[in-house]
Amino acid sequence: MTNETPSAAELDAADPLAPVRSRFSLPEGVIYLDGNSLGALPVGLAERLDQVIRHEWGNRLIRSWNEANWYELPRHVGDRIAPLLGVGAGEVVVGDSTSVSLFRVLAAAVRLRPDRQIVVTERGNFPTDLYILEGLRQLMPDLEIRFWNEGESPEDSLRGAGVLMLTHVDYRTGRIRDMRGLSTAAHEAGALTVWDLSHSTGILDLDIDRDGADFAIGCGYKYLNGGPGAPSFTWVSPELVKVAEQPLSGWFGHKDPFAFVPDFEAASGIQRFLTGTQQVLSLAALDEALNVWEGVSMREVRKKSVMQTERFIAGVERSCSGYGLALLSPRASGERGGQVSFTHDEGYRIMQALISRGVIGDFRAPNILRFGFSPLYVSFADIDRAVEILAEILRTETWRQPQFAAKRTVT
Ligand SMILES: Cc1ncc(COP(=O)(O)O)c(C=O)c1O
Repeated sequence: MTNETPSAAELDAADPLAPVRSRFSLPEGVIYLDGNSLGALPVGLAERLDQVIRHEWGNRLIRSWNEANWYELPRHVGDRIAPLLGVGAGEVVVGDSTSVSLFRVLAAAVRLRPDRQIVVTERGNFPTDLYILEGLRQLMPDLEIRFWNEGESPEDSLRGAGVLMLTHVDYRTGRIRDMRGLSTAAHEAGALTVWDLSHSTGILDLDIDRDGADFAIGCGYKYLNGGPGAPSFTWVSPELVKVAEQPLSGWFGHKDPFAFVPDFEAASGIQRFLTGTQQVLSLAALDEALNVWEGVSMREVRKKSVMQTERFIAGVERSCSGYGLALLSPRASGERGGQVSFTHDEGYRIMQALISRGVIGDFRAPNILRFGFSPLYVSFADIDRAVEILAEILRTETWRQPQFAAKRTVT
């Protein structure tokens, strides 16, 4: 190998993040390229849950709300996610699904712009984001939804709008939206911004307050590795959180839940974005999962991520050309998040064939093969091997075997 094209072994040997892989429990023989959908299991997480279940719950019972700080978990876990967003302690809270968190912040943003009842978003946004917006519109018949299409001037779409709601990294293509540019355009138009950071957190080097986010939410189970259905996080800018009001005003968002008074009075900070009793087991799992970030620099993560996605694209284009794969993700690294997507008419079957060989990515209808590279546990050797297996499957057409056509519920 020349200096320009180092071998995977050379890159792995020089990789400052390589030791972090041992913080995960990954099955032998699996190359896991789906951490953008469900992160891998961190070492120690099962033991932590065992302790929470057997000791904190089993032995200590309800006393653990105080003794084990269960009550503090939404803010404690939020404080641990805050550095990954580039924001401060006390600004993030964790609980409920991403969809529910989005409903809360979106409604709060809309209520802060009563004279501008227009929400601008993209038609290609993640479906749950659109469904939640539509659900809110049905409750607020004056609310208008306006679609911005990439390529159109955001200024035109934002005229008269109260809120710009976007997903930072597109789930299909991996394209990064220009948070700073679009937020500036929104603010100049008098609108607030709501960002879905599900595919950005734990993979991009974020500084969301500087870049103009007003509200942000994101998943706990992707690059944050909190496990299936892990709770989501919510951040609101320190200025707006003082005045923002969200409609799911349950007792955990009350300023004094244990006063049991009939009138709602919101807690003073980000706690007002909580609703009801939190998912203690899932919060404990996410808390434990966040240990893997100890000593990890997001700058290093992003640097490795760019090298990995570049290597995968180059490898696939070199070894798999002529078999119908087309790059869907942006070619320019600066515009691409942590995943690489290719299209292929037989994408579903090819992905099933890959999974049967231990290379786990996923498929998004109608024809997208998605490969996510979590730099904390994917090695450069994994990438080269994944390319080799993909090339072999395409060359030998093993994807044509009938078992790979069987449609499964979750793709
Ligand atoms: C951009 C985006 N938002 C939201 C979600 C899902 O939200 P929830 O946690 O409510 O299922 C996903 C799931 O993949 C996503 O990609």
